[in-house]
Amino acid sequence: MTTTPGAPGAAQQPQHAQDFAGLTALVTGGASGIGAATAALLTARGARVAVLDRDPSGAPKGTVPVLADVTSDEAVRAGVGEAVRQLGGLHILVSNAGIGAIGTVEDNADDEWQRVLDINVLGMVRAARAALPHLREAAAARPGTASITHTCSIAATAGLPQRALYSASKGAVLALTLAMAADHVREGVRVNCVNPGTADTPWIGRLLDQADDPAAERAALGARQPMGRLVTADEVAAAIVYLASPAASSVTGTALAVDGGMQGLRLRPAAG
Ligand SMILES: NC(=O)c1ccc[n+]([C@@H]2O[C@H](COP(=O)([O-])OP(=O)(O)OC[C@H]3O[C@@H](n4cnc5c(N)ncnc54)[C@H](O)[C@@H]3O)[C@@H](O)[C@H]2O)c1
Repeated sequence: MTTTPGAPGAAQQPQHAQDFAGLTALVTGGASGIGAATAALLTARGARVAVLDRDPSGAPKGTVPVLADVTSDEAVRAGVGEAVRQLGGLHILVSNAGIGAIGTVEDNADDEWQRVLDINVLGMVRAARAALPHLREAAAARPGTASITHTCSIAATAGLPQRALYSASKGAVLALTLAMAADHVREGVRVNCVNPGTADTPWIGRLLDQADDPAAERAALGARQPMGRLVTADEVAAAIVYLASPAASSVTGTALAVDGGMQGLRLRPAAG
């Protein structure tokens, strides 16, 4: 895990009881970044966790790695089935696998639009379709425990430069979250999303590597957020885990921003 200046370290995060004891969870894209931090936190809080990823080699210790690419409906169904067999059921889906895209609407060809939407939007549709029968069973057996949490983005609610395709994909995730929350509320399955600002993950590391001046680019991304720094994967994971937890049993159809104030605040320039 990288260290983000100004952010509390994992050791300073509040500790919780084993509030996920007896619960089972699947995290897509759980082998890196936000997904890995989420899978590790769910495990630490007592859940049995499977990680579905196209490269599950980085799945956190104590989780069940499942190899699948979310662009394949067949692979996702098989992967969810494998996770359910190994975990003994499924209460919680965290649909987090996603990729970035840079450019204005003129910069990406149709095949790139199709590739990114296939992963970022249809990937979540496929995971939900495969998981819902198991989540309904979990909801019937233990009311209040079944949920889906999507990793959406600040790009769904704020216009960011050079992110036309990525923003369109996350806007779709936000609308999908609301529609699914309505469809499944009476089945006892809650559906929410988190909207991270720019988060310090291997993905952002790759993005910075492409910049002419990575240090200046990192500083600019941090300065864009009112707290003046990137958010950490652990901070996003804490929000996802809250939405999936029994403490959020009345929360559905919600987008929870974890963005250092980027969506909601309008600051005056700092004096001096
Ligand atoms: N890092 C940020 O600044 C940021 C901000 C807002 C939202 N997000 C969202 O958070 C999520 C996770 O991003 P991250 O920063 O942790 O990225 P990351 O690259 O560190 O991790 C993404 C994981 O998803 C997996 N993955 C990618 N495509 C896949 C596919 N087709 N099938 C299966 N697995 C696949 C990768 O192997 C990887 O393990 C994404 O949905 C992203 O859009 C990230």
